[in-house]
Amino acid sequence: LALPKKSIPPKYFYEEPGCGLFEAICELPEYSLTRTEPGILRERAAESARFVGPECQLIEFGSGSQTKTRILIEAMQPPLYAPVDIAEDTLRASSAEMAKAFPWLNIVGLCADYTRPLAMPEFAGVPIRRKAVFFPGSTIGNFTPGEALVFLEHARKVAGAGGALLIGVDLKKDKAVLDAAYDDARGVTARFNLNLLHRINRELGADFQVNRFRHKGFYDPDRSRIEMHLESLYSQFVHIAGRRIDFAYRETIHTEISCKYSIAEFQELGERAGFRPEKVWTDPAQLFSVHGMVAS
Ligand code: AVJ
Repeated sequence: LALPKKSIPPKYFYEEPGCGLFEAICELPEYSLTRTEPGILRERAAESARFVGPECQLIEFGSGSQTKTRILIEAMQPPLYAPVDIAEDTLRASSAEMAKAFPWLNIVGLCADYTRPLAMPEFAGVPIRRKAVFFPGSTIGNFTPGEALVFLEHARKVAGAGGALLIGVDLKKDKAVLDAAYDDARGVTARFNLNLLHRINRELGADFQVNRFRHKGFYDPDRSRIEMHLESLYSQFVHIAGRRIDFAYRETIHTEISCKYSIAEFQELGERAGFRPEKVWTDPAQLFSVHGMVAS
């Protein structure tokens, strides 16, 4: 916030209540993304199980509530599931639920930032033929295409040579549809965004008056991405950890991008990161894509 262009990385959305607000976004009529993806996975479950093959170690980046993972676990019957998430409470609770649903499944939760180098423990006695990284929900969209390339290279290292990547990618679509998805009528996305300021107040003892800011969320078709900002409604200042931060009238804090791709664009990105695109599945309305790629 001390930089000339103020920004907060989107990973800070996901504490509690932020995780709960994100779950509420997923229920919104305007936000199709998280409903469309499980539909595709359900439809293609058997095919995706054939794609990864038997005895795979399923690694999930940003596992959150782990609900859509169940579809894959039922179809793939992997001997080992390793969810990776920064939100410890969510990781513990979701993994415990998963253990109840699949008593035969070995689960090893890693509380970590999955963009950083990962020390994946070795699992003696668990037969594993292949690693498969599952990165659903179009979270890849939070990275610029350049950052996404670096991230995919990292995912390729985690999967290892011959490993698989199953990744959900939101597709380019109408501006009106995307605008509504990130600025919904009920204001849930606004609360999700503004919660960042509440969080800074709580955890860093800041004095943001949250009602002096407003949520902005819109699609920029030139850059094929959503931008979310918190806009200052006044010329004002706040204190954070003993520092004064000034805001001009209408100045914004940039809180998120959500990049949208065409199928061909994303396959090209995967290839540049050392993957071989093998499968791509979409819904009939072509809202969302799930790519199956192999690390070369
Ligand atoms: C979880 C990153 C996929 O970009 O659509 C939802 C987060 N932000 N509404 C997205 C989000 C605003 C979401 N991802």
